[in-house]
Amino acid sequence: MLNLIRLLQDGQFHSGEFLGEALGISRAAVWKHLKHLEAAYGLDIHRVRGKGYRLASPFEPLSQERLFALGEPWPIFIHESIDSTNAEALRLLSQGVQAPFVVLAEHQSGGRGRRGRAWVSPYGENLYLSCVIRIDGGARQLEGMSLLVGVAVLRVLQSLGVSSAQLKWPNDVLVAERKIAGILIELVGDPADICNVVIGVGLNVNMLSRQAEITQEWTSVRSEIGSLQDRTQIAAALLCELRRCLGEGFVAVRREWELHHAWTGREVSVLTASKRVDGVVLGIDKSGALRLDVGGTELLLNGGELSLRLRDDSRA
Ligand code: BTN
Repeated sequence: MLNLIRLLQDGQFHSGEFLGEALGISRAAVWKHLKHLEAAYGLDIHRVRGKGYRLASPFEPLSQERLFALGEPWPIFIHESIDSTNAEALRLLSQGVQAPFVVLAEHQSGGRGRRGRAWVSPYGENLYLSCVIRIDGGARQLEGMSLLVGVAVLRVLQSLGVSSAQLKWPNDVLVAERKIAGILIELVGDPADICNVVIGVGLNVNMLSRQAEITQEWTSVRSEIGSLQDRTQIAAALLCELRRCLGEGFVAVRREWELHHAWTGREVSVLTASKRVDGVVLGIDKSGALRLDVGGTELLLNGGELSLRLRDDSRA
């Protein structure tokens, strides 16, 4: 089945006859497999009578060799399709694989977002990356970690020419209020002592048309700058920037984060599972907590499961 994707990866038309011959199957079987690829992997396949089939957009597979050639020092596991790179990273940890390491996938069948949401992960279009690091120094080192990761993503986007990218507390990356990347951090072990941190990043790279599946407003690097992007190169840049930001620490990047916060000074509602707090965003404190002015009193809010919305606005 995946060989069929490889035959179509150039984005050119290929007849059912050609594909069938290459794979040693009938034209009807080609059609059936393509139907399955659309349903199971989210592939966008165009059919034109007399021309055959083509992918809506060409793609280059993620390449471990190129990542190493680009200087990546950490072990990399690349999957064609997996439930979730974060879930796989957690499984690898439980099997005794030592951090640091990186899990990448062309497709996620159960991509996880924050607050129990799904992360739409069509085959070959975006970056689905989980990077696992070990923290030995206790809870202090975890302070502001998700904000730090946001800065790494922001820097990579800026280097690609997406200069209007902004951050939204705690860890969304937006362009003109549309989500371009999301971050999901999961911990294993004792946060006060030794733990492993799974840093999951979903970055919309080449995705152009998934309106029906994604309920939030979104964009991608390709939508912003108009050209097809090299996901392997972006993965290498992101891992490199992640290491740099983790090395600098949150205190060093706090100003940069605040400078690029989309909603400073805006009226927002902060939602927890059970309640809602309305206020005006002041910024963040030294541990990455959100500083909110609630009727003249400053409130500090922390926690990955909080969600921020602009007041009288359904986007979050
Ligand atoms: C969010 O809700 O904004 C967080 C989305 C995080 C998605 C990424 S994709 C790679 C990694 N694997 C997952 O299952 N989730 C994260």
